[in-house]
Amino acid sequence: MTLLDTARAVRENAHAPYSKFKVGAALRSTSGAVYAGCNVENVAYPEGTCAEAGAIAAMIAGGDKRIAEIAVIADSPQPVSPCGGCRQKIAEFADGDVVVTLHTTDGAVLQTTVFALLPGVFDADYMSRV
Ligand code: THU
Repeated sequence: MTLLDTARAVRENAHAPYSKFKVGAALRSTSGAVYAGCNVENVAYPEGTCAEAGAIAAMIAGGDKRIAEIAVIADSPQPVSPCGGCRQKIAEFADGDVVVTLHTTDGAVLQTTVFALLPGVFDADYMSRV
């Protein structure tokens, strides 16, 4: 299975009763393991947690720390754009040159990088005087 196949499959499990907008994400960690996540909305926080955050949580739960590659898919008119919070989360667990591939369910693809998605990311270096 490719990352796209995994992201497409996990998207089917998305729990999005409020937005009705299902998103799937799959990442390969630097160990080679693949982790998947879908968005999960709930009554108290109907905006929910994003698919990308779910895949990162699965990676951490699986004992890995770094993203080597990540793919995201949704039924959007243009390849789905990760939200600001997810850009920050991805950037904290991936080097800037890591490839991020964004897909629509009908086959449009946008390949970009972590750096291109979030230049000037806040990182721990900014706290080095603490
Ligand atoms: N969402 C994601 O899971 N990933 C994105 O990149 C964009 C947005 C989810 C959050 C929410 O459940 C729904 O899409 C609408 O914002």
